[in-house]
Amino acid sequence: MVESVVTPEDNAFSQQERAAVYRAIATRRDVRRGFVDRPLPDELLERLLAAAHSAPSVGLMQPSRFIVIRDFATRHAVRNVFAAANAQAAATYEGAQAERYSSLKLEGILEAPQNLCVVCDTRSARGYKLGRNTMPETAVYSTVCAVQNLWLAARAEGVGVGWVSILDPARLRDVLRIPDHILPVAYLCLGYVDAFAAEPELERAGWERRMPLESAICYDTYSEDGTR
Ligand SMILES: Cc1cc2nc3c(=O)[nH]c(=O)nc-3n(C[C@H](O)[C@H](O)[C@H](O)COP(=O)(O)O)c2cc1C
Repeated sequence: MVESVVTPEDNAFSQQERAAVYRAIATRRDVRRGFVDRPLPDELLERLLAAAHSAPSVGLMQPSRFIVIRDFATRHAVRNVFAAANAQAAATYEGAQAERYSSLKLEGILEAPQNLCVVCDTRSARGYKLGRNTMPETAVYSTVCAVQNLWLAARAEGVGVGWVSILDPARLRDVLRIPDHILPVAYLCLGYVDAFAAEPELERAGWERRMPLESAICYDTYSEDGTR
């Protein structure tokens, strides 16, 4: 009888499955335009939320909570919060950069049929503080992991996601009735889209370029060589 030998590589996904994972990562985009006016089916939204909910979290704290927003009046109120914050941000730039900033499309709050506010219950006792004694901010990091899970799952489902951070958190709290001890982390616009762009919108608009991987890596100790 031939004994089967299990190698570490056997834990890997199949070639095709790996390609799908890397494809989702490489082709995920922040989407702010081209949303199709069709709500996502409930089962699909549930799959995306389940992907988010299964993200790693410090001490298995699972501090993320999800506010699904479909109501037009609520989205309209959030759009106003964005407009005020965006006007303030625009005033911080000068000359050609101010003009370029003003031409950017930085949200799709009303175009996307559903929005999602991902918040973090930073004070939750879940996880008994494991991993949070010296780095309490890991609660929020856990919520960011949840957002990224959802973002990648959405790309695989053909669903566009755009993150809007140009918001005054206090005003956002008012609109969504988020209590003081709950931290708004991500305001997302999501929906079917007509296309996914090949490159980041900010790159296409000439605002910023992606930096090469080599510039982000150093070995053994921190070094700023290679970064600009
Ligand atoms: C924490 C965070 C906040 C962001 N806030 C905004 C925003 O307010 N408006 C916007 O248009 N894009 C926002 N983005 C999207 C980035 O601009 C985008 O991820 C980046 O330009 C790279 O493009 P890509 O996601 O398509 O690869 C945000 C992304 C992150 C991670």
